[in-house]
Parts: sequence; structure tokens; C-alpha cells
Amino acid sequence: MKKILILNWKMQLSVNDSCALAEEINNEFDNLNLDKIELGICPDFLSMHKISKIIKASNIKLGSQDAFWYEKGAYTGEISPVFLKELGVEFVILGHSERRTHMQESDIFINKKMKTVLENNMVPILCVGENFEERQNNQKDLVIINQVKNALNNIDLENLKRLIIAYEPIWVIGSGQAIESNEAQETNVIIKQTLLDIFYEKGIELNDENFKNKIQILYGGSVDSTNVSNFLNEEDIDGVLVGGAGVKFETFCSLTKAIN
Ligand code: 13P
Repeated sequence: MKKILILNWKMQLSVNDSCALAEEINNEFDNLNLDKIELGICPDFLSMHKISKIIKASNIKLGSQDAFWYEKGAYTGEISPVFLKELGVEFVILGHSERRTHMQESDIFINKKMKTVLENNMVPILCVGENFEERQNNQKDLVIINQVKNALNNIDLENLKRLIIAYEPIWVIGSGQAIESNEAQETNVIIKQTLLDIFYEKGIELNDENFKNKIQILYGGSVDSTNVSNFLNEEDIDGVLVGGAGVKFETFCSLTKAIN
């Protein structure tokens, strides 16, 4: 199974800068030795159309930073999952802590989005993670278990093709100081066990092989060239979700070098 590298460009780059970076990554792709990596780029919405063309012939996959839960209609300012699919989007980040915080996205919203994204045959990247206060109060595991359970409430898991979950401790995002990889590994095991429990409660059999094919669990939060291989070497960390280190070609190249 390939390890996963998802770049979340957030609202960091202009359309011109996003396209230029996508061109650079695309042109250099063969030299980056990423055969063992599944690479996805999640640009801002305005850049997406152009970037879908830039990476069309490559192995780079297009991701979205969000999607609305309705497919079409009078929803001013929202982004249709159907239109994203039309552009060739394969992954959709849902429930990122920045949306939970700044847009007051609730677990109920995230659950609705999860349903529509799956119905439109895209892969949700569900972000979960605790804030600093929750961590200090020993609530980390509980917060994460609840986020996973609520996001998957009433989802048709019987027919689930693929789901990605990203553990992102909120207090570490953008800080330049990641957590230790063994701690992320432990948390990913808790997420895995939570998923196994959910499947078991629904009477769905899932052996290890099946689980690995359907569900991957990532780590995100200040991943850079100095720590990326520690995370990727952990047994239950299937990849990384990268913010800051993915918005400059030089730091992206250092990251891929470190992976190799
Ligand atoms: P940083 O890598 O900048 O900490 O961002 C992580 C993140 O939020 C990815 O979604």
C-alpha cells in the first residue's frame, strides 16, 4: 500500500502562485521519485479549474478543502460536490479544525457533507483532533472518538469504498513543532479501534487487509522534512497531511527528499 501525501494549500497562495507551484511540481514529478507515494493537492477553489488541467496527465490527484452537503440549488457562496467531481476531484477534506473554529462547523454539518461526498464517489479526508485545553484536561481520546463517531453517524459503511481520517492536534498546526511520531501512532491506533468498533456494531466484517484497503489514517500538524519520515515509518500512520511545508517548491522538495 502506498503512503499518502496530501498538500493542503489552505488560503495561502494566489491563483497565479498556486498554478505556478502546481506546474513546478507537475514538471518535476518524475524526478521526485514519488512512485511509492500517493500525492494529492488541495488548492483553493479559485485555482482548482486551472490546476485540474495542469495535473490532468500526471499521477497527482486533485483534492478539495471542503464541499457543501447539497448538490445543487440556491446556496449562495457554497461549493457543490457534484461540480467538484466534474473537475476531477478525488479527495475532499472535511471537518478541518480551521473550519470547525472559524466557520463554526459542527459534527452535524460534517456528517451531512460526509454523506454527499461519499455519494458522489469522492474520498473524504475527515480531520479530527483536540485543542490544547482538551489535551490538558485529558480529553484528547474522547474528543477524537466522538468526532469520528459523529462524522460517520448513519453513513452506509456496508458500501464504503474508501475513507481517509487525518489526526491533526489543533494546537500543533502551524506551530513548527510537531508532536512525537509515537504519540501520533498511539492516537491513530485509537482511531482505528474506534472504526473497528463502529463496523462491528453494524455487523460488518472487516479483516486487517480489508481495513487497510478501505481506510487510511494520516497525521497532520507541522510535518516537515525533519520529521516526515518518523511519521511515515510508524505502523499505523498511512500518510501525512501537510500545510506550511507544502506551499513552497523548495520545502516541498526537501519533504519528498526526506521521504525517499
Ligand atoms: P501545518 O503543516 O502548516 O501545521 O498544517 C497542517 C494542516 O492543518 C494540514 O491540514
